Amino acid sequence: MLRRPRRNRKSAVIRDMVQETHITASNLIFPLFIIEGNNLKTEVASMPGIYRYTIDNLLREVEQCMELGLRAFDLFPNIDESLKDKYAAESTREGSLYLRAIAEVKRHFPEACVITDVAMDPYSSDGHDGVVENGEILNDETLVILGQMALAHARAGADIVAPSDMMDGRIGHIRNVLDENGYTNVSLMSYTAKYASAFYGPFRDALNSAPKHGDKKTYQMDPSNQREALIEAALDTQEGADFLMVKPALAYLDVIKLLHDGFDMPIAAYNVSGEYAMIKASARNGWLDERRATMEVLTGIRRAGATAILTYHAKEVLENKWL
Ligand code: PBG
Repeated sequence: MLRRPRRNRKSAVIRDMVQETHITASNLIFPLFIIEGNNLKTEVASMPGIYRYTIDNLLREVEQCMELGLRAFDLFPNIDESLKDKYAAESTREGSLYLRAIAEVKRHFPEACVITDVAMDPYSSDGHDGVVENGEILNDETLVILGQMALAHARAGADIVAPSDMMDGRIGHIRNVLDENGYTNVSLMSYTAKYASAFYGPFRDALNSAPKHGDKKTYQMDPSNQREALIEAALDTQEGADFLMVKPALAYLDVIKLLHDGFDMPIAAYNVSGEYAMIKASARNGWLDERRATMEVLTGIRRAGATAILTYHAKEVLENKWL
């Protein structure tokens, strides 16, 4: 035998030498949940180790993460039911929980990268990412609200706004609104190929944001479709996105690879709540080696072509020195 591939696996030094995929803290984005109140930290039942923080505790959490070298955060608000309405008015109200959280994180940690979620669902009395009328999601009416929301985030200090709604034309619309108001430097991370997935369940528990009726299939993509992601990616690229995101990650590694190979754009992948919950649940039962399973998942997402990984594992992998 002339070729014996096992020679390159014979020692740790050689294996490390030929290692193709590396993950560093710079590749990781940590999603954080926020709630109203003082000095609270409530665990999400379906996401062991993940908490909703009041702003004071959020700042402590961000500080700890920064010390670990984790510098990018995606913030998500848990909004009291009494503040929700059809048009997500709370999302742009001056002094609202989310806008205060963005401003406070940036005030204390100007060097942190704050990514904000542009979406109606945490604020919507319908639990949808768009305005609902007679059971239909109205696209262009929703764009107006998303534009105002993104602008409010930019004013509060967001470095990157990330629309997660899947309305048509929202990247172009938001880019225009930001530019017209002088926020040409605020980046857009588009949820380009966001699928109608069962794996968002624990996230909706965290924010109490599940749809009150119907599902999200008229705007989120069908899990069967790969080529449709190319249409979304082409539009987002033309409309001015700075990052293309695929979500969820694990069941969609082919889509990550497709966008990575097809577009000269940084690719982000969202390792979502249900993917995190699966590992935690099996680790708790002793069914999987948690460290190895977690690192294998993150490595697979990175190998498929994601440069940025949004993951609830971000802090623990650094704390435990798993990288
Ligand atoms: C909604 C949004 C969702 C997630 C991020 N933004 C859920 C949904 O579309 O219902 C899910 C993230 C996760 O599951 O970790 N705008």
